[in-house]
Amino acid sequence: MSRPTVYIETYGCQMNVSDSELMYGSLAAHGYEAVDTPDGADVILVNTCAIRDHAEQRVLGRLGELRRHMKKGTVMGVAGCMAQRLGPTLLEKARHVSLVVGPDGYRALPQLLEGARSGERTTATSFDLEEHYEDFAPRRFDKVKAWIPVQRGCDYRCTYCIVPYTRGAERSRRLDDVVREVEQVVRDGMSEVVLLGQTVNSYDDGTHDFATLLRAVGRVDGVRRIRFTSPHPNDFSDAVIAAMAEVPQVCEHVHLPMQSGSSRVLKRMLRRYTREGYRDCVARLRAAIPSLNLTTDVIVGFPGETDADFEETLSLVQEIGYEDAYTFKFSLREGTPAERMRPEEFVADEVASERLDRLIAVVRGGARERNLRLLGTRHEVLVEKAARRGEMLQGRTRDFKTVMLPPDGVAIGEYHTVELTGTTGSTFTGAVVRDVPARRPLPVAGAPAPAR
Ligand code: 5AD
Ligand code: SF4
Repeated sequence: MSRPTVYIETYGCQMNVSDSELMYGSLAAHGYEAVDTPDGADVILVNTCAIRDHAEQRVLGRLGELRRHMKKGTVMGVAGCMAQRLGPTLLEKARHVSLVVGPDGYRALPQLLEGARSGERTTATSFDLEEHYEDFAPRRFDKVKAWIPVQRGCDYRCTYCIVPYTRGAERSRRLDDVVREVEQVVRDGMSEVVLLGQTVNSYDDGTHDFATLLRAVGRVDGVRRIRFTSPHPNDFSDAVIAAMAEVPQVCEHVHLPMQSGSSRVLKRMLRRYTREGYRDCVARLRAAIPSLNLTTDVIVGFPGETDADFEETLSLVQEIGYEDAYTFKFSLREGTPAERMRPEEFVADEVASERLDRLIAVVRGGARERNLRLLGTRHEVLVEKAARRGEMLQGRTRDFKTVMLPPDGVAIGEYHTVELTGTTGSTFTGAVVRDVPARRPLPVAGAPAPAR
């Protein structure tokens, strides 16, 4: 008999992408064959996000659409944060769904699917604070960079955020296990690793902190680029910043969620830093890594945000000068502390939309101005994939700029020295500079030389 087939569709953050790789790996080890279309698959899994209502509505719509791809006997399952949040009510909302499994339940997936294939309808949403899927061999889709989860869950309690309730308490993988996985991905031909965690720089396996982890990953032969996402501003200790500056493979880019530029709003968000504290964090990072590029997340229309608060967000965004920002309208999540804020404090949707538009214009305007000044400069680019449109290939500089390259003599996975020749304002086109060896990160005294 041919092997049963499984199709997984992924929504949300990189942690979900990584979880889908783990699920695919586990199911392959249990006799399933991965397919890249839902058409006629024996199992269809949707790995979901619960961060904003919009994300959930999209998934609900998609679940309806996917129904058309089911054949007799197909099992439809929902995994991830929305599965965790809604639990059994999802089975009621979508009658064609027979399995609901949260982020800590993937170990039991083969048995759960077996049950579902024989007609059971099940919910598996218990938390397991020991679970790191350590013995799973992920099936990776990216051939160039590897997502490496180093921490699961979150112990911050930002008042808008659902994640602590969908992913449970913070726990870190053991450093040795992380290093072993990094060694494996290098053997598999990858040279960039992205360390993942909800507040990744608070990593603590009981013996080692994030600074030690960065140094340990930097000692793995063959690792050429190290990134991490997402950090919390309060967890940038001097030791972490020193490790970032001294480990040559750590790239000159940090995604540093700001959320708001107003101390009053930050306090109501329970972000545990002020405008000045955030600014200070940026100053410490930039003092240690002068060429650092920053990106951020910002929420507009949080309950109680006044015009004056919003102006403070705009001015901080302008002052810091982000390469890019992910901007969101506040979305009230059931069960979060924001639910207890006074109804009259909620910001009208039209007001929030207008603020969002203004914020996006400021982010784009600033990035465009800075990017135009970069035309003609040279950068090391790692070629990552085919661009979505046209013939071009798409790569990234160490500091996270996106560069489109003509494909002649250039292959995915290669490093090239590239001169930036054009910009849309946010992304670049570039030309490979032949004859010049790609810029290597310089070894720093006290740190191991980068392995090539
Ligand atoms: N509403 C809007 N945006 C949110 N985020 C998290 N929760 C919410 C919410 N309830 C944003 C934050 C976070 C990013 C991943 O999503 O900016 O950093
Ligand atoms: Fe979505 Fe957050 Fe869950 Fe990731 S952790 S899937 S962004 S809710």
